[in-house]
Amino acid sequence: MTPIDPVFEQPELAELYDLFNPWMACDDFYKARAVASGGPVLDLGCGTGMLACAIAAEGIAVVGADPAEGMMRVARSRLGAEAVTWVRSAGQDLDLNHRFAFGYMTGHAFQAVLTDDDAVALLRAVARHLRPEGRFAFETRNPAMRAWERWTPDASTVVDSPAFGRISEVNAATVDPATGLILIDTRFRFLDTGDERVGDSKLRFIDRDHLTRLIEAAGLRAIEWLGDWDGHPFGPAHSPEIIAVVGRAG
Ligand SMILES: C[S@@+](CC[C@H](N)C(=O)[O-])C[C@H]1O[C@@H](n2cnc3c(N)ncnc32)[C@H](O)[C@@H]1O
Repeated sequence: MTPIDPVFEQPELAELYDLFNPWMACDDFYKARAVASGGPVLDLGCGTGMLACAIAAEGIAVVGADPAEGMMRVARSRLGAEAVTWVRSAGQDLDLNHRFAFGYMTGHAFQAVLTDDDAVALLRAVARHLRPEGRFAFETRNPAMRAWERWTPDASTVVDSPAFGRISEVNAATVDPATGLILIDTRFRFLDTGDERVGDSKLRFIDRDHLTRLIEAAGLRAIEWLGDWDGHPFGPAHSPEIIAVVGRAG
């Protein structure tokens, strides 16, 4: 089983997550599809629950699942959280007596699943939890665009928060030569006090052919391949994202 990255598990780091990851185009993308499905909806790797709560606020039944207690604690305490059913579980271990019309995994959470075995186990769990005509959508960054090369200390972000004052997030990414995984050292610096919190995480980048093999091994089939949040078709040489929309194969 893939261990959970400290950057998600530590409560004090989870509290900073939304400051550096506000609502984005991907959230509009998944919210529109979730609402159009009519529900019920599964948010796998729901993190701090911002998107799950926004979908539930539209009157859609939503289950948010995540293995990291730090993230789930933030999710359960946010405004509107009572409208969502929260389940602490990794995708691989998901075992609900429930079938969904639509599910999604976003925030590049799929890239935190570091092995083929875990990725297939997770996608098999998805297949078990989908209605016959249900759809599951998720994304992974296109490795051809080498995003990790831009995660450098000189590209730090600063936010100003009423609770914590000014905080900078500084990332340094390296490639692990043994595994090909991207190792990310993240430092949050509280600029008004000089305090620092450190979290590290690992991400896996795979291409579309590799992802297709995992999807098919899990008893799913790809229905749509998109390359960005505007809905352009995936192009291996230029798309920033590989967005897969899948359904049950049989
Ligand atoms: C970058 S956050 C994304 C959170 C949220 N989906 C968002 O868009 O803000 C990645 C999340 O994936 C979760 N995660 C890691 N491994 C997972 C797994 N095997 N199954 C489900 N979620 C996982 C982490 O705990 C973390 O909350």
